[in-house]
Amino acid sequence: MHLYCRHKRRRVRPRLSTLAAVGFMAAMAVLLAEPVRAGSTTPDLAALKARYARPAQIPYPADNPYSAVKSELGRTLFFDPRLSGPSTMSCASCHNPSLSWGDGLPNGIGSAANKLGRRSPTILNLAWASAMGWDGRADTLEQQAVGPIQAPGEMNQSMPKLLTTLATIPGYRDAFEAAFPGEPVSEKTIGKAIATFERSVVSAKAPFDRWIDGDETAIPEAAKRGFVTFNTKANCAACHSGWRFTDDSFHDIGLPDADLGRGKIVEGVDLLMHAFKTPGLRNIAGRGPYMHNGSIRAMTAVIEHYDHGYTQRASLSTEIRALHLTETDVLELVAFMQTLTSKDPAIELPTLPTEAMN
Ligand code: HEC
Ligand code: HEC
Repeated sequence: MHLYCRHKRRRVRPRLSTLAAVGFMAAMAVLLAEPVRAGSTTPDLAALKARYARPAQIPYPADNPYSAVKSELGRTLFFDPRLSGPSTMSCASCHNPSLSWGDGLPNGIGSAANKLGRRSPTILNLAWASAMGWDGRADTLEQQAVGPIQAPGEMNQSMPKLLTTLATIPGYRDAFEAAFPGEPVSEKTIGKAIATFERSVVSAKAPFDRWIDGDETAIPEAAKRGFVTFNTKANCAACHSGWRFTDDSFHDIGLPDADLGRGKIVEGVDLLMHAFKTPGLRNIAGRGPYMHNGSIRAMTAVIEHYDHGYTQRASLSTEIRALHLTETDVLELVAFMQTLTSKDPAIELPTLPTEAMN
């Protein structure tokens, strides 16, 4: 069901990236001869695996192409608490690299120690995403980045004040001039710099990817069976599809709360009531508590939700149905999801430019 997905055409600028080129072709011949579960209705494993190959490069939009100085400026802004009104909170307060770019809390906490309505999602792998936010309210990373800065409940900053502050810090003035020659420091250039940095936040290769690339020893047998269950009996791949494990679309999976999600953004579509963006599953094992409201703590509990724990209502996705999973199925699904955890390179914290002495 990709009905509500937005497909945007973006010119992809090839760039060498940290992602290695995908080398799964060589492994195919070996895999074809090696069914995961002998005697059952084994799907064509090679074809299944081919759907999960990683892309070779990060896509950057034509109207905000990559440059190293821009990405570096974006990284500095992302970690700078001066972007918030009280100068206490940066983007990284809620999107913390040591917590897989989330905050590990059921709900985000704003700069006035206030509880937000939803959980802080990871910003991993968003270069490929077509809508931002649990409800997809922003179309691009550029648009999204300037939202939390000014949101009273989040960073509570006045944009004119921030522009003045940044323009008076020599290090920032120079960095903006290098990244956007001849342009003033503006909401637009702040958004572009942060978005460029965010696109570079990509999960590294996980054991799962090494298996996809042909290393049969990279993941346990139970995880291989879990992968097949994920794609067949458990129907997870109906929504968590492709190497990021998301269809970038919106679904009601039957979580019992009053939040209408996408239904508040696009009104009058019954199926979008209680619908939220399908989160990617990279590094999922360390990213709990789960869901837009942080209501599910354990991965086994997530699977039990899909098996039989969902709320029946008119907007419930037609892909959600009783699964009749066995205990072994559940454990193997968890074993599979654990293979999506990558050891990402440590993020070097930027040196924040200091204010001019006078
Ligand atoms: C107070 C905590 C907090 C701060 C600070 C914060 N965010 Fe977020 N962020 C959230 C929450 C909560 C959401 C989900 C909002 C929603 O969908 O309703 C979110 C969503 C996002 C998303 C969308 C992710 C996705 O998968 O769709 C991006 C990108 C993002 N934030 C980037 C940023 C940037 C850049 C900054 C700094 C300018 C920032 N955030 C500051 C809590 C925070
Ligand atoms: C109908 C589409 C759909 C199907 C089928 C589906 N999911 Fe999801 N999944 C979603 C959506 C949408 C969310 C976010 C829901 C929310 O927060 O309201 C989600 C959330 C999750 C999360 C939490 C992610 C996070 O960052 O909080 C996990 C884990 C997960 N799903 C795993 C699975 C597994 C395992 C299966 C199969 C048993 C499955 N999903 C089947 C759409 C789906």
